[in-house]
Amino acid sequence: MKKIIERITSRSEKDTEKFAFDLAQRLPLGSMLTLQGDLGAGKTVFARGFARGLGITEPVSSPTYTIVQEYSLPGQGRLYHLDLYRISSAESALAFGVDEFFDDSNAFKLVEWAERAENLIPENAIRVSIRHLGENEREIIAEN
Ligand SMILES: Nc1ncnc2c1ncn2[C@@H]1O[C@H](COP(=O)(O)OP(=O)(O)OP(=O)(O)O)[C@@H](O)[C@H]1O
Ligand SMILES: [Mg+2]
Repeated sequence: MKKIIERITSRSEKDTEKFAFDLAQRLPLGSMLTLQGDLGAGKTVFARGFARGLGITEPVSSPTYTIVQEYSLPGQGRLYHLDLYRISSAESALAFGVDEFFDDSNAFKLVEWAERAENLIPENAIRVSIRHLGENEREIIAEN
């Protein structure tokens, strides 16, 4: 059973960024998070806040066409932002080489469309889901 580690009602893009920022500061290097939510839910907003929480200042956008975007952390380590939308199965994820990123213990991993390669996602990954409540309201739940 997954237990909820954080749950908020976000009322603005800023709230979502702050939530992700704070979570990034509390998690150890090596953590993996999956991001789930409809189109326009705020996955990219979350990823940007998370990156800022790790001290990354570069622009952050979804790596839909490149599948993976890598950022260096100010100290040691990296952040990998993966978007598996264009990957059809665990086999093609492996053919792409996602395991190289997933297995990097010196990196944070943010994974969108993790359901494309569900059996490659470690049991201890933190599941973040973002749900539309209204135009600017979102329920965000992080569980593991
Ligand atoms: N509380 C909120 N949290 C996050 N984003 C919000 C919130 N309220 C409004 N928004 C708006 O919703 C949009 C979220 O866009 P974002 O690109 O992050 O979605 P996404 O989940 O990455 O979508 P896609 O699947 O298309 O990539 C932004 O335009 C943002 O300003
Ligand atoms: Mg996005």
